Amino acid sequence: MGVILEIVDGRLAMRSDADAPSSGMSIDLGSIDVRALGGHPLVRAVGKGAGHVVDATAGLGGDAWILAASGRTVVALERHPSIHAVLEDALMRARRTPALAPVAARITLSQADARHALAEAAGGAWAILVDPMFPPKAKSALAPRDIRLVKEAVGDDADAANLLAVALATTVPRIIVKRPHEAPPLGDEPHHVIESRLVRYDIYDRPHLMHRP
Ligand SMILES: C[S@@+](CC[C@H](N)C(=O)[O-])C[C@H]1O[C@@H](n2cnc3c(N)ncnc32)[C@H](O)[C@@H]1O
Repeated sequence: MGVILEIVDGRLAMRSDADAPSSGMSIDLGSIDVRALGGHPLVRAVGKGAGHVVDATAGLGGDAWILAASGRTVVALERHPSIHAVLEDALMRARRTPALAPVAARITLSQADARHALAEAAGGAWAILVDPMFPPKAKSALAPRDIRLVKEAVGDDADAANLLAVALATTVPRIIVKRPHEAPPLGDEPHHVIESRLVRYDIYDRPHLMHRP
């Protein structure tokens, strides 16, 4: 089985080739709840110092959208071509929707493997978010069908620990890893942890890199 792209109601959508034609999933960034973002655990994990953030694992764009809606500029990297295409289409529609355009304008999406692109993308960033696929059976914040499709497309992100090592090798002061509650840290023990109902955010801080001009 694989995933295929199709146009449904004028939107680029993705479905499993076992699913019925025209049943594809597209992304609606305008449906993401961006009220009361100050208390959102991801926004708290990124912290007050953040102006520019790299989302190394953009996926369906929910986290990038929340960060941009909270006022950060976001460089989002996604390596899977179909997921990147569906997200780029959603961003393009958001840029044309007046109520969404200011948030969409703060997100720059590239199709790239963050393990190779991070060193350049991370210049001047305050934080890098790493949110690889959750291990099997872990609860995810994504809707079940979205998880199934993304998993069918990308598998298990078995190189996620390597991605964290690359992120830690940059000069970015804060690295945040989104993990299911039951999973061990992706690398060493984090310095801080922020818990939310479905997930936790493991935070790796490098205080010597935190000075700002
Ligand atoms: C769990 S999803 C991310 C969900 C995302 N945070 C959201 O809000 O929708 C993981 C995504 O990261 C992508 N990914 C994993 N490793 C990557 C890498 N090294 N570079 C770029 N994208 C990567 C996968 O292709 C997948 O789309």
